[in-house]
Amino acid sequence: MSVSIGIDIGGTKIAGGLVDAEGRLVEQARRDTPAQDAEAIITGTVDLIGELAEKARAHGDETPKVGVACAGYIDREGATVLFAPNIAWRHEPLRAQLQEATGHDVVIENDANAAGYGEFRYGGGKNVDDMVMITLGTGVGGGIVLGGEVFRGSHGVGVEIGHMRVVPHGHLCGCGNRGCFEMYASGSALVRDARALVDEGTPQGKRLRELCDGKPENLKGVHVTQAAQEGDEAAVALLAEIGRWLGEGAASLAAILDPQLFVIGGGLAEAGDLVLEPARVAFAEELTGGGHRPAARFCVATLGNDAGVIGAAALAREGRA
Ligand code: BGC
Ligand code: NA
Ligand code: ZN
Repeated sequence: MSVSIGIDIGGTKIAGGLVDAEGRLVEQARRDTPAQDAEAIITGTVDLIGELAEKARAHGDETPKVGVACAGYIDREGATVLFAPNIAWRHEPLRAQLQEATGHDVVIENDANAAGYGEFRYGGGKNVDDMVMITLGTGVGGGIVLGGEVFRGSHGVGVEIGHMRVVPHGHLCGCGNRGCFEMYASGSALVRDARALVDEGTPQGKRLRELCDGKPENLKGVHVTQAAQEGDEAAVALLAEIGRWLGEGAASLAAILDPQLFVIGGGLAEAGDLVLEPARVAFAEELTGGGHRPAARFCVATLGNDAGVIGAAALAREGRA
């Protein structure tokens, strides 16, 4: 069987898998690596590629191609991570480092571009030509597929939708600017606001306070989703706020791109309609010409949090344009 290796380097972990030609994940593996340790991410990734290459041999594939998705600005050649707001990488020659250390051909890609391509090839975007992927995790990522091609901009570093400014003089972002979209619509934004609520000690925060044993620093995004699914009003409101920012941001993007579909992925997408319904409402309210023009649909990533791994593996298999 012919398989390729997909790796997705995120804010808190490195996920990897073996993916077959139909986009099926046939093996999975991961390393829990903090994004603050630039060296450790490389070592962890090399190690994970080694483990998956071993598994590929067991599937009868001696020379699997490797695709590595990561949360950063990658040059047009797909060789160097120029900058990463949430990972300690600056001008990191990632492709050369991984190729030298593993002996495999490696393709590198922005994580959200990879997730977008995965959804386009095998997921929610299978039947469309033009779509926008928005990933809600540590940061907010964007992947644009237009006419079936991944759009990257002239220098490779376009589609950084997490860094559109949505609030003048707003929250300070990991990129150094203020008021970026990801300071309002990401998993980190959700956790920041949920912890602030717990800190206030008001009755609204009761359920969230229980879920983190009274320690705001223990509160995670999944706790907010859990509380919201139980019907906790404060948690529902926190997720709806993320959804509102998401819908407004998508409306701005639709003014420029007019896609058929927005696919929403990343960890926060697991909250499903708790985020997507408020997003649809805000989108309909804010879309220019709304009610007088066709508008994009919204769906949750059908590949879930594996979209990046699957997309990276597909780009490795097919070659990166
Ligand atoms: C980074 C992007 C990345 C996104 C999702 C942002 O902070 O700038 O490159 O795609 O997070 O991980
Ligand atoms: Na991107
Ligand atoms: Zn930013």
